[in-house]
Amino acid sequence: MTTTTGVAAVTGAVGSAHTRVEGRDKVTGAARYSGEVPFAELTHGWLVLSTVARGRIRSVGDGPVLAMPGVLTVLHHGNAPRVDTDYMGMLGRPNPIVGLFQHDRVPFAGWPVALVVAETSEQAREAAEALVVQYDEEPHDVAFHSGRSDAYTPGDTPIVKAETEKGDVEAGLDASAVVVDAEYTTPEEHHNPMEPHAATARWDGGRLDVIDSNQGSSWVASELAQLFSFDPASVRVRSEHVGGAFGSKGLSPHQVAAVMATTVLHRPVRVVLTRSQMFSLIGYRSPTAQRIRLGADADGRLRAFDHQAQSLTSTVHEFVESSAVLGRVMYDADAHHTLHRLVRLDVPTPTWMRAPGEAPGSFALESALDELAEKCGIDPIALRVRNEPEAGPVSGLPFSSRNVLACFEEGARRFGWADRDPRPGLRREGRWLLGSGTAAATYPSGVGPSTAAVTAEADGTFTVRINAADVGTGARTAMTLVAADALEVDPDRVRVRIADSDLGPAMIAGGSMGTRSWAWAVTVAANELRERLSLGGGIPPEGITARSNTAEAIGALTQKERHSFGAQFAEVAVDVDTGEVRVRRLLGIYAAGTIVNPLTARSQFIGGMIWGLSMALHEEAIRDQASGSHVGADLAGYHFASHADVPIIEADWVDDPVPGDPVGIKGIGEIGIVGVAAAIANAVWHATGVRHRDLPIRPDRVL
Ligand code: MOS
Repeated sequence: MTTTTGVAAVTGAVGSAHTRVEGRDKVTGAARYSGEVPFAELTHGWLVLSTVARGRIRSVGDGPVLAMPGVLTVLHHGNAPRVDTDYMGMLGRPNPIVGLFQHDRVPFAGWPVALVVAETSEQAREAAEALVVQYDEEPHDVAFHSGRSDAYTPGDTPIVKAETEKGDVEAGLDASAVVVDAEYTTPEEHHNPMEPHAATARWDGGRLDVIDSNQGSSWVASELAQLFSFDPASVRVRSEHVGGAFGSKGLSPHQVAAVMATTVLHRPVRVVLTRSQMFSLIGYRSPTAQRIRLGADADGRLRAFDHQAQSLTSTVHEFVESSAVLGRVMYDADAHHTLHRLVRLDVPTPTWMRAPGEAPGSFALESALDELAEKCGIDPIALRVRNEPEAGPVSGLPFSSRNVLACFEEGARRFGWADRDPRPGLRREGRWLLGSGTAAATYPSGVGPSTAAVTAEADGTFTVRINAADVGTGARTAMTLVAADALEVDPDRVRVRIADSDLGPAMIAGGSMGTRSWAWAVTVAANELRERLSLGGGIPPEGITARSNTAEAIGALTQKERHSFGAQFAEVAVDVDTGEVRVRRLLGIYAAGTIVNPLTARSQFIGGMIWGLSMALHEEAIRDQASGSHVGADLAGYHFASHADVPIIEADWVDDPVPGDPVGIKGIGEIGIVGVAAAIANAVWHATGVRHRDLPIRPDRVL
């Protein structure tokens, strides 16, 4: 079933499956990623990272290294150009890690301390490895655990409100017939996209040209302009093809290093991060410790709801993993409390990683719901039906549409939930114990202002210009379909130009907001163009162009709770001898508004679900307390799901019209991962009778 409300559905391009318009370029190698674009006179920079977790740089031994073959310069705190990190960026103040080489302090292991630039990448690497940096080391603390006495409540940001409260939770719990009070933990996790972070910068004294891999070229261009005090009009950032991002590809040290070096050398400079460097330079998901208290009547109706989540941040920057936000959307109670707490440690600053907040938060909350269902002796889906809120539990605002129960209904039918015996530990097949579990999913459906231009060319084709980023999701193809529908022409006649800051400002590919935001701007411009063309007359050689800017329309949106929803189902087998958990089946049913391209949407949902499986069973970054650095910071040491771990996965969606919404598209980037780990943990309980409240569910924890 596919909805085609909101954006026009005249040609039926939106809602029907299309392969990627750049697919052939990608599989033939014609598509170039940012580390591959050729530049004349190119030089190569290699970052050197601190080996101590806290202290000061005593000396950087650049003398011997400058004499090595091909080495052009060594930048460090003693000689680097000054930059200005005291500005307010699109998403707040910049992470001080982008203020490269501005002082001698080291706040964590893996902090950038120098950049070696050479004629070849190999020469730069050899010199970087030979560079001797001496430190005055200070004691460090990297120990994250729940109940730390130095945990504090952070201030609100435009993105995360730290605390919400209504009613008296303690009184509500006292008055409840059934109480769940449990702590859940999730480990440090990393997004490490297939394509490493890479940037090439060229400065000619008047104009900065950057080829980068990012989630928003306008965003990175604007941050670089502010950091280096350049005229914004002189900075151009392009990011034509991106091999994955997941929240990690904003402004990072590599672009800054490349720009800094090109302003010094007046030659193009390329900086590519290694896998291992990515573990400390690009952000990651904080570990969490979450306490959930649910108080309910005997029939499962919630009286008291409390979700308190502790995460960590660095000593230099504040980032909150917003794990406690789900209850503000999913479940109401007379007494309702959600709270985030932070601990500052000598570690890199975490950042947005796919479904920031919702991913770890849903593991805790949707596990706790399952525990409540067990205690009340009612079916987990029936419990959710009983607690379905009329309006936003905290905001009181109406939902733009909320079809989460339709997801459960359709999912239960397809999964065969009705035949499930709720009792745990009963089903056995040889040495395998079998079980099934479910969980809800939700993610906000946000939108950001964007500009677009659509041109009717003299040859009868159309060119769409929007500074979208295609981080591998199929955004270029989605915009082709959206424009084709609005123009009422075949998609073959539409070409889409994206990922170039010279195209004008547009929303980033982040927070599941890209497609909704860009589709709105493209539709407005295309509609206007279609109307102008309908008046008749010829098309001049330069074409006819209509432009849009959605800033005002977004400002005029009515206040509503806008979210995507879903229901996750998992079937697992647990080996009674080894403790190994195998996922046998995953099913995700979503209510996410109009699905623009079912082919790529399904891939995106499934990708998220695989990540949820990986989160449930495999992923955890191990930080050595003595050195303060990671153990096994690469894709061999950081364990994640491989093909053999991934069963048949189904993802589908229910009809989800959004009455009165100008776009109808909700966004699907993050929701696929949400709830999957809980569905799997709930299935492991159903198989074994044992609750797993700490991720990942490793064999040694199962035995
Ligand atoms: Mo997403 S974590 O906002 O790229």
